[in-house]
Amino acid sequence: LFSDVQVAPKDPILGITEAFLADQNSEKMNLGVGAYRDDDCKPVVLNVVREAESRIAGSNFMEYLPIGGMKAFSDLSVKLAFGEDALPIQEGRVAAVQSLSGTGSCRLMAEFMHRYLPQAKIWIPKPTWSNHHNIWKDAQVQQELYRYYKPESRGLDQEGLLEDLSKGSPGDVVLLHACAHNPTGVDPTPQQWKEISKLMKEKQLFPFFDMAYQGFASGDCTRDAQAIRVFLEDGHLMGCSQSYAKNMGLYGQRIGCFSIITDSADEAKAVESQMKAIARPMYSNPPLHGALLVKEILGNEALKQQWYEEVRGMAERIISMRALLRQHLEDLKNPLPWKHVTEQIGMFCFSGISPEQVDRLAQDYSIYMTRNGRISMAGVTTKNVSRLAEALHKVTTD
Ligand code: LMR
Repeated sequence: LFSDVQVAPKDPILGITEAFLADQNSEKMNLGVGAYRDDDCKPVVLNVVREAESRIAGSNFMEYLPIGGMKAFSDLSVKLAFGEDALPIQEGRVAAVQSLSGTGSCRLMAEFMHRYLPQAKIWIPKPTWSNHHNIWKDAQVQQELYRYYKPESRGLDQEGLLEDLSKGSPGDVVLLHACAHNPTGVDPTPQQWKEISKLMKEKQLFPFFDMAYQGFASGDCTRDAQAIRVFLEDGHLMGCSQSYAKNMGLYGQRIGCFSIITDSADEAKAVESQMKAIARPMYSNPPLHGALLVKEILGNEALKQQWYEEVRGMAERIISMRALLRQHLEDLKNPLPWKHVTEQIGMFCFSGISPEQVDRLAQDYSIYMTRNGRISMAGVTTKNVSRLAEALHKVTTD
């Protein structure tokens, strides 16, 4: 019966963890998946999450949530993304459901496009998080790529981006990474965001923000939402995917929010009902625990402030690891430029090394990363940074 079923290729990100786990070297490093570690390379549960857990302990939390998840959670989430006093929220024009984190939000959006925007293409930056391609492919939405990254300057290809997006048709959807672009760590400046927003308004392109790292880029949740705020000022309707995996460390809870800003409260009602109609046959309703935690944190001023501090702490540790890595490489007199290590932002450093060099790092040094040369800076510590720098030096100079 299943003799024609081929073994699926390994996932380019999560597949790396399998190779890492099989490696017996005690000095091995997993710089593949983007999951935060402390300076001892240990996973972190935020103190504020522990506090929220103690507050919800004993509550009746084994019941089903409604199909769209916990309303109080989505209300708090959209305020975090769009701003406490955002006009579309005040006017009741935001449709929102709790989602299975970032992937789940994107999948709902892709399915929504398939049903309700059948002519629309999704414009995806080149490069992007590998799973974006799978998500829109499975929803049978036609994909177009737009230029994003310029290898020569290791920066944004703003000209190429604007040129490619100007070819979009009215109603097409543009996938934008709200901050901490994955995998490049290169974000547009506020001025560049204004240009992108203006062009998209003229061309009637619909922005869909994937915001998996709010707070994780700069350490400031409002600053990390500035791209969204620019588009709001320009009066765009838009979609947004939020995830609390990285910024609250709730990876395994699969907790996020999918929202769409519509033209009117009536439209929002209809759109939200269709989001639920998509969710019900897919997974019925989302899990409860993460929603309770996030609601507890965002709904309490003191806990929210504590969370801001803790997310800032994680962002700052990563920023300091960038500085250390660059310093070590420069001390080793590596001939390549490494300025981009400190200029890029967020969890990842797009190192610029080749797939063959990545393979050598794994084979010779037990250092694992994705084959596009993306280093998860979250796995770099004061204890392993010199070993990483030496290995990078070796594979780039031998
Ligand atoms: C990553 O890019 O490493 C993360 O977003 C984890 C994932 O699911 O791929």
